[in-house]
Amino acid sequence: MEIITINEFIHLQEKNFPYSKGDLSSLLYDMAIAAKIVHREVNRAGLADILGEMGSTNIQGEDQKKLDVIANDLFIRALRAGEKCCGVASEELDDFVAFGRKGMSHGHYVVCIDPLDGSSNIDVNVSIGTIFSIYRTLEADRPAVEADFLQPGRKLVAAGYVLYGSSTMLVYTTGNGVNGFTLDPSIGEFLLSHPNMRIPEKGAIYSTNEGNVSGMSKGMLAYLDHCKSKNNDSGKPYAARYIGSLVADFHRNLLKGGIYIYPGTTKDPNGKLRLLYECAPLGFICEQAGGKATDGINNILDIQPVELHQRCPLFIGNAAMVDKAMEFIKTHG
Ligand code: AHG
Ligand code: MN
Ligand code: MN
Repeated sequence: MEIITINEFIHLQEKNFPYSKGDLSSLLYDMAIAAKIVHREVNRAGLADILGEMGSTNIQGEDQKKLDVIANDLFIRALRAGEKCCGVASEELDDFVAFGRKGMSHGHYVVCIDPLDGSSNIDVNVSIGTIFSIYRTLEADRPAVEADFLQPGRKLVAAGYVLYGSSTMLVYTTGNGVNGFTLDPSIGEFLLSHPNMRIPEKGAIYSTNEGNVSGMSKGMLAYLDHCKSKNNDSGKPYAARYIGSLVADFHRNLLKGGIYIYPGTTKDPNGKLRLLYECAPLGFICEQAGGKATDGINNILDIQPVELHQRCPLFIGNAAMVDKAMEFIKTHG
């Protein structure tokens, strides 16, 4: 395969952007730069004093890890400096941040971000990720307002994730298919390694935290039994794979076929994952790769957000498995 850097690829794709002034391209460049810096921090986490807790909690009530905050700061600094983005909504910030720029263009885009996904895995050296989504602002050339962020996934202009695993990958879509880039640390470049990613039609992997079964619906329990039985479409029990990092579980299922489910439970009817910076961006990517993402009833991309950190259940993976899971939910309640 010829060597194509992510910047060359973004530039080549630019003709497909409806607003091809190059602003979205440079915003994607900014995300790639920040991803390289977070890669460096993640890979030296064990050495420098950046493991462990900050001693603070975020709006979700979750203990913030040092790397959560470092990654958050790095992406926000890159986006602020880049001048194409006029605001960011982050899992790690109670409210969005608007980059007011005196006398300069505000940029036409806003970014929603989960700067570090899978935080519980940071200190045990298991793959973690970043998830981001990009919307065009509702009006041109003014500071960001909350409504710019509260747009349904159908309005996304781009979405992507970074996986800091055995290698660091950046996977993104601008609505023209999904492409994956692997970082070559020796030259500091993301190189095209997975062109036109498509999720397999069939899958035999299911990913969910079965520790929560006591709170799951009858439909979910019936679907999990289906996954473990010989009556499913593969004629043998599916493989259970659950890492505790959504990005890593999603990426594996995107490559091999499978379904990831974080359902609602009696304790948390809306589940744990956040619509704006986990479910919608991955739903956009999954649909662009031929898969499907729902909340168990509605397509994730059709959900109208009402609150920056709102949660929703997530069923995401190849369409046949998502449809089968929804059939069980519909039949068994
Ligand atoms: P984050 O670290 O950004 O809060 O996300 C963690 C999410 C997701 O990555 C993972 O699949 C899920 O939480 C794991 O939750 P449980 O530990 O409840 O299974
Ligand atoms: Mn997350
Ligand atoms: Mn996170």
